Amino acid sequence: MKSVHLIALLACTFAANAFAASATDASNKPIDIKVLAVPCEACHGKDGNAIADQYPRLAGQYHDYLAQALREYRSGDRQNPIMGGFAKPLSDAEIDALSRYFAAMPSKLHDLSHDEQGD
Ligand code: HEC
Repeated sequence: MKSVHLIALLACTFAANAFAASATDASNKPIDIKVLAVPCEACHGKDGNAIADQYPRLAGQYHDYLAQALREYRSGDRQNPIMGGFAKPLSDAEIDALSRYFAAMPSKLHDLSHDEQGD
């Protein structure tokens, strides 16, 4: 039983190291997510829930969806003049860090499960 715990602990340590090792920007400097996210917060909000209706809420969305969107803005597969400009300079590790950061925030997104349909 003890060895199972040890293996689990080692696995976590390796996983944490793997993430720390990849969390560098294009010039190999460690990513400071609080600094990296500052420009994004101007529209998407400090809490990830957007400052106005025309901006999507990022909080609580799947991180891999957010990362996919950012990669597509960067490559031009998804066209948006604002986001294209913000995504262009991002490295893969920065996209991953930003996506995880906003995805982990408490969301004000809601679905229609509590809405009444018809009369
Ligand atoms: C000037 C306002 C503005 C700033 C700053 C900004 N965004 Fe956006 N963002 C938008 C708008 C507008 C859209 C919707 C574009 C579209 O229709 O594709 C968007 C879309 C997105 C999406 C896709 C969301 C979805 O639900 O599909 C992601 C992810 C995203 N932004 C992340 C970021 C990140 C990360 C930053 C900082 C590097 C950032 N944005 C900075 C305005 C902004």
